[in-house]
Amino acid sequence: MTLRLAILASGRGSNLRAIHKAIMDGRCDAHIAVLISDNADSGALEYARENNIPSHTILLSDFDDRLKHDEAIISAIEQYSVDLVVLAGYMRVLRSSKWFEMFGHRIINIHPSLLPKYSGLDAQKQAFDAGEKVSGCTIHLVDESLDGGRILMQKEVDISECKSADEVSEKILVYEHELYALVIDKIAKKQLRLDG
Ligand code: GRF
Repeated sequence: MTLRLAILASGRGSNLRAIHKAIMDGRCDAHIAVLISDNADSGALEYARENNIPSHTILLSDFDDRLKHDEAIISAIEQYSVDLVVLAGYMRVLRSSKWFEMFGHRIINIHPSLLPKYSGLDAQKQAFDAGEKVSGCTIHLVDESLDGGRILMQKEVDISECKSADEVSEKILVYEHELYALVIDKIAKKQLRLDG
């Protein structure tokens, strides 16, 4: 079944691009129904506009609090009959319980470390500073915790030759792009179940 995706992104948008490319190349059985960003200057929004992907800019500063911001995003997504919510560099923890009432286990995130190691910000720098030889990326279900939901798939990446945290980030990012499209395709093909 072709999965209808809502992608949430705050920044550069390279994972959005990679997923979109995989869809166009026939490697990922999905359709990006909508892109939502909380950052008007994000590369993700620019890419969506250039590629005729419906998009909404929903700024936190337009709302009284985080819950109302979350609820505005949920209302926007509701217009698109979405099967799966995909966080791709979305820099906020989902606060409203409505997320989980609406989508249950159908919210996934990518994180640039081998969770549960190095959750939170600057995961690649955390791994580099700790002198890790191997790090990687993780796709996991989203719950109310920070990067703590059930792990769906991980890819190990050799970072032993990396000379800086930036190099670690660049190296892992290449595998993020492959892994995200693969996991979405496996969910579409029911080779990977979200409900445990
Ligand atoms: C990626 O490293 C992702 O793992 C993390 O945020 C970064 C987003 O990059 N959650 P991009 O905006 O997809 O290029």
